[in-house]
Amino acid sequence: PLPRHIFADRNNSAGINLNIAASREPLFERLSELAGKQWQAAPLVAGKPVTGEKRPVFSPQNTGRQVGEVVFADKATVKQAVAHAEKAFKGWRDTPVDSRVQALEKLADLLESHSAEFISLCTREAGKLLQDGIDEVREAVDFCRYYANEGRKLTGEPTKLPGYTGELNLLQAQGRGPFVCISPWNFPLAIFLGQVSAALVTGNTVLAKPAEQTSLIAHLAVTLAHEAGIPGEVLQLLPGDGATVGAALTEDPRIAGVCFTGSTDTAKRINQTLASREGAIVPLIAETGGQNAMIVDSTALPEQVVRDVLRAAFQSAGQRCSALRVLYLQDDIADRVLDILKGAMQELSVADPALWSTDVGPVIDADAQAGLQAHLDAMKAAGHKIIAEAPINDVCASGFYIRPTAIEIGSISELSKEQFGPILHVVRFKAKDIDRIIDDINATGYGLTLGVHSRNESFAAHVAKRIEAGNVYINRDQIGAMVGVQPFGGRGLSGTGPKAGGPHYLTRFITEKTITNNT
Ligand code: SER
Repeated sequence: PLPRHIFADRNNSAGINLNIAASREPLFERLSELAGKQWQAAPLVAGKPVTGEKRPVFSPQNTGRQVGEVVFADKATVKQAVAHAEKAFKGWRDTPVDSRVQALEKLADLLESHSAEFISLCTREAGKLLQDGIDEVREAVDFCRYYANEGRKLTGEPTKLPGYTGELNLLQAQGRGPFVCISPWNFPLAIFLGQVSAALVTGNTVLAKPAEQTSLIAHLAVTLAHEAGIPGEVLQLLPGDGATVGAALTEDPRIAGVCFTGSTDTAKRINQTLASREGAIVPLIAETGGQNAMIVDSTALPEQVVRDVLRAAFQSAGQRCSALRVLYLQDDIADRVLDILKGAMQELSVADPALWSTDVGPVIDADAQAGLQAHLDAMKAAGHKIIAEAPINDVCASGFYIRPTAIEIGSISELSKEQFGPILHVVRFKAKDIDRIIDDINATGYGLTLGVHSRNESFAAHVAKRIEAGNVYINRDQIGAMVGVQPFGGRGLSGTGPKAGGPHYLTRFITEKTITNNT
């Protein structure tokens, strides 16, 4: 049989190919119908919407453009939801795994049939590119189908283990209880549903807290999950901010685990809260930040390097935890690569993410924009050379845009923290210094993605072996890990593992029971 991590029984979602008119045109038609739609989101507790103050949701692309309204959960609503999740848990855990699997497979189908709604919301609520929106739906579909398949294997029939004569030994994997899923705005559908589907299929009830910036997308996803057959008490939605909803959830002694994607600082705070509250010792699965580098030696192909750098550093406006932050160029090739990069950056279209021609959209909000701009201003004031800046047009003045910028630095150690946006730092290095560079990258304490460009296989193998990173990509860009193909996640300050979209992910969502029967 094939190893478990190879899909023997399914393929990744096909998505929508914009280069084919027959798939592009119906999508564009539907997107123009949805362009002005006003969406609503509210807490969904035991399947029912909770009423409250409606807050307007504006697009990061144009702060005057409203996308809908959201009601945030308060602490009392959170407590009610946890009570429902606790009550519903045993029934859901003991539901045959096939029912849970079927619901997730139905949800995957519903996501595909509602692609246009999600793509529209991704561009409008999250400021994502059209292509990013398409990829987002594909990844969410993949997570549902992949975890459905893995969940059936893990929580289906118990495993029979060897024993003494007359003794039957069974190992059964089961859900743990009410599981908290706290997801980020940069993958408002894919990571949101990745966490949720993993927790559900393994028999946990779920309290889902989406990022406050992307509640509308999460609300639509949960509505479809209910339509697919997941009971309202089993999956509840709690939009709101971290200080209110996140804190109330993680402090609650009844919760049985937390799955979190976001900043390293928040993950550490959650860990502290879990350790100091009443109640059981529970797992935290955390996927956090990175300080991701790409190392390019003199044997690399400059045009290919630039193509991959543009995608890794600037697609999604650099707002991926996998995105490239520090490009290391061997000095013999640096000028050639930078010449092409400068030219290519002049061609970037920084504009409305809903347009097919746009390469870089806005960052998520005013705080993100201010933080990135402050970093650029500080770098300039400190005398760092600006290598290239992409042109940016007047349309961008209405939204939270940051000019894609490449800037020279001496070493990754000069950067105090991850800059979550379209800013690329460039370092030149000499061949003799390669091991020191790898040590510098490892010394950041992060370990998420690393890119290597080299035609010298032993160089690439040496770097891949010495680097402390969760995902190493050789001669390609370092973003866009595919479910079941490139299991994704880091180590150290970048997260706890196990990797999302990989064969071991579900093991942190379960507890095991061994039954020994002396028959
Ligand atoms: N999984 C995403 C990627 O690989 C990052 O969050 O780009």
